[in-house]
Amino acid sequence: MTLAPCDLLVHGAGVLFSGEQVLEGDGVALGDGKVLETGPSSGLRERWAPASELDAEGGVVAPGFVDAHVHPAFAEGRAGEFALRSRGADYQEIAAAGGGILSSVRAVRGLSEEELALKVAGHFRRMRRHGTTSCEAKSGYGLTVEEELKSLRAIAAAAESTGMEVFPTFLGAHAVPEEHRDDPDRWVDALCDEGLPAAAESGLARAADVFIEGIAFDLDRSRRYLEKAKELGLALRVHADQFEILGGVELAVELGAESVDHLEMLGDGGLEALALGTTFAGLLPAVAHFLGQETDAPARRLLAAGVRCFIATDFNPGSCPCPSLPEVAHFARRRLGLTAEETLTAITSTAADSLGAGDRKGRLVPGHDADLVILDLPDLDHFGYFLGENPVCAVVAAGGVVEE
Ligand code: NIG
Ligand code: FE
Repeated sequence: MTLAPCDLLVHGAGVLFSGEQVLEGDGVALGDGKVLETGPSSGLRERWAPASELDAEGGVVAPGFVDAHVHPAFAEGRAGEFALRSRGADYQEIAAAGGGILSSVRAVRGLSEEELALKVAGHFRRMRRHGTTSCEAKSGYGLTVEEELKSLRAIAAAAESTGMEVFPTFLGAHAVPEEHRDDPDRWVDALCDEGLPAAAESGLARAADVFIEGIAFDLDRSRRYLEKAKELGLALRVHADQFEILGGVELAVELGAESVDHLEMLGDGGLEALALGTTFAGLLPAVAHFLGQETDAPARRLLAAGVRCFIATDFNPGSCPCPSLPEVAHFARRRLGLTAEETLTAITSTAADSLGAGDRKGRLVPGHDADLVILDLPDLDHFGYFLGENPVCAVVAAGGVVEE
């Protein structure tokens, strides 16, 4: 029998996880940047002649992780605020006093586009060491039209230099910038008249996002912004119900948003809307931990109501300086009550589906992109059990080994 050439054969998996379920066998054949076949490696060897091999040594082999809520366009951390919060100040107070997001804005405005791109590339590399091969990436720390576009260009440059597959999102409506503090509508005008059209027409963003919250944008302004984004053909992703219920969840569902994220305060009305709509729920359990918030998104109720939930880091300098999905998996299990299998599904196939990319990302099935991770875990149940230790021992992206 003639063997077909393939680029890489991964073998020796103790558990092979497709992104939705445990598969038969211990091996994956990859070629031309795609998954060719999964199954027992003895059988794969009867059909494929691999150019190279990777031994999973009994670990868990899963699709490359997809982080579907990330704010990577920042320059530096905000450890000073962390210290203030440890002494009792809260996140909203710090924001209202001109700190928070606005302090990250000052730092981003002080960098050239090239300098910012190097920062973003550093963030992408940190994420990939923890198994993330694709991510959503928001602007949101520029807050002038030009600085937001600079951030999106820096994200694109960092994607190119690191090989991270990026789904870019325009987040001009992250906060009201200092110069528009007395007249937030002027900033919403600028976003609707210039920012969103420029983001859509340049192709620098595929989606738009808004922070619907007392410290950011009210429901009317958010509606105006989201309707404009939708009219321009951008997908919608929304931050809502983190601290206050303002009706952002219902608005997101009404407008057919891809996802509405946070949901720590989600009420019955929002849950019913999500159950009836097609919008995914983005759950960010490490944020509640980092902010010392007692309430978590009602993950079990959402899942019981049939709402599709993904888990993401929300990696950002203010509310979650954590680039690691395996670390966040611990909080998903501990605080949200997810099983290991549900958690792994929520950071692979469901996260990819929420970005409209489930037909090529987040699944180890033939024809999908050849992105996978090898986790040094004795079985699936140990995923999210360990914390403070990176279980990722190898990362393959687009068919090539990028971390080992
Ligand atoms: O998702 N909520 C808005 N944005 C981020 C926090 C951004 C920051 O504090 O810098 C979040 O939590
Ligand atoms: Fe966020």
